[in-house]
Amino acid sequence: MADFVGAVDQGTTSTRFMIFDHGGAEVGRHQLEHEQILPRAGWVEHNPVEIWERTSSVIRTAMNRHGLDASDLTALGITNQRETTVVWDRRTGRPYYNAIVWQDTRTDQIAAMLDRDGRGDVIRRKAGLPPATYFSGGKIQWILDNVDGARAAAERGDAIFGNTDSWLMWNLTGGVDGGAHVTDVTNASRTMLMDLETLDWDDELLSFFGIPRTMLPQIRPSSDATGYGETLSAGPLGGSVPLTAILGDQQAATVGQVCFAPGEAKNTYGTGNFMLLNTGTDIVRSRSGLLTTVCYQFGDQPAVYALEGSIAVTGSAVQWLRDQLGIISGAAQSEALAAQVEDNGGVYFVPAFSGLFAPYWRSDARGAIVGLSRYNTNAHLARATLESICYQTRDVTEAMAADSGVTLDVLKVDGGVTANRLCMQLQADILGVPVSRPVVAETTALGAAYAAGLAVGFWKSTDELRQNWNEQERWQPTWSPERRADGYTKWKKAVQRTLDWVEV
Ligand code: G3P
Repeated sequence: MADFVGAVDQGTTSTRFMIFDHGGAEVGRHQLEHEQILPRAGWVEHNPVEIWERTSSVIRTAMNRHGLDASDLTALGITNQRETTVVWDRRTGRPYYNAIVWQDTRTDQIAAMLDRDGRGDVIRRKAGLPPATYFSGGKIQWILDNVDGARAAAERGDAIFGNTDSWLMWNLTGGVDGGAHVTDVTNASRTMLMDLETLDWDDELLSFFGIPRTMLPQIRPSSDATGYGETLSAGPLGGSVPLTAILGDQQAATVGQVCFAPGEAKNTYGTGNFMLLNTGTDIVRSRSGLLTTVCYQFGDQPAVYALEGSIAVTGSAVQWLRDQLGIISGAAQSEALAAQVEDNGGVYFVPAFSGLFAPYWRSDARGAIVGLSRYNTNAHLARATLESICYQTRDVTEAMAADSGVTLDVLKVDGGVTANRLCMQLQADILGVPVSRPVVAETTALGAAYAAGLAVGFWKSTDELRQNWNEQERWQPTWSPERRADGYTKWKKAVQRTLDWVEV
């Protein structure tokens, strides 16, 4: 057996390839960003061809840089930004339209209609999701309704759908020459088209969106020794490596954080924030604005489910300070700027740029900065931005506790924003529980590698993976209970403003 496992992490802003050894330590990586295409307010697109080219390039570069070839990899896993929708032609390999990204809100009317005529409740019950612009079903419908020839091609079986996992898998396994059209249970659980109990596409749900079944990928377990095929010698690895895992990126991070027991949770801080609580083989229906989703399925074992609190805008709010306001030159500078002041100076910022996701699910909400006085500076705004990341997380943990009765005694964190130590301190202060970051912060890629390695016996069991988890840093709460309660009350008032605004 070769020494390493590889993982492609196709994210919202970039694609990376990482190589891990048996101890879960990083052996090498390469990463490239891709263009964010913003044609109109609320629309967010990616070019699928660019994503495939970047994927090929990061794989080649990482392997070459470390003097590795295909024979050094035992298996390869894919993890991906979820929900982002690609429809392409299986005969030519050409996309019918740009990928419509999970943050895109153009399908708000489709989502609103579903709730007006009762179909929303069927989606909630079967798919575990509230009708929202976030998920793939409405995005596929939009392409079929708006792109010339797409519907006819879908009905003929030529136009096929996938999230970016399926798009990359199809390209890696041969593309127009018979590429595998597959996905896994975790990605399928983000479409509004899969029944959580049967783990299969559901005809009633498909009929709500007018989506022909022929365009959908085959659903496989997340970790699967044979179902996904192998890379081609002509591809970026230059040889044949078994493809043995797909996991949506947030589910992958849950695996990378070794949250294998019911009641274990992690919170990933990326473009958005995503907290997942493992609920075991129970499908827990949320009454508090969380999603019910598949956490993972390893081989022929039963699927494991999760409750998820999805927050659309966290790290991207820091990017907004850089790109739109120009008050920082890089994400790291947000920490130094926010540290210039002792507190938020009364300023609360609710970055509802894509509406509000969990636990509110209001696609019509819009952002607000409240509490300003002339005394306030850029530093207060930077601090309010970091606090908004933490307060949104608090909203989600409150919902988790209400739905599951589980109150966290420590929050396991990962993702790019966790490099911001002030933000992590604020998180501990705002939640009132310690925050813990592991040594390997790239838990998303690691989780995909774990799932791929489990399939081929590179790792024997989840218990073996637990041994690889080590804490790097822990932040303890320092705020008094009064300060914590006062801050949260003001945050809730600020959130209310973003909801009221729409009704004015
Ligand atoms: O559901 C969207 C999520 O999968 C995106 O994650 O890390 O690409 O922002 P990320």
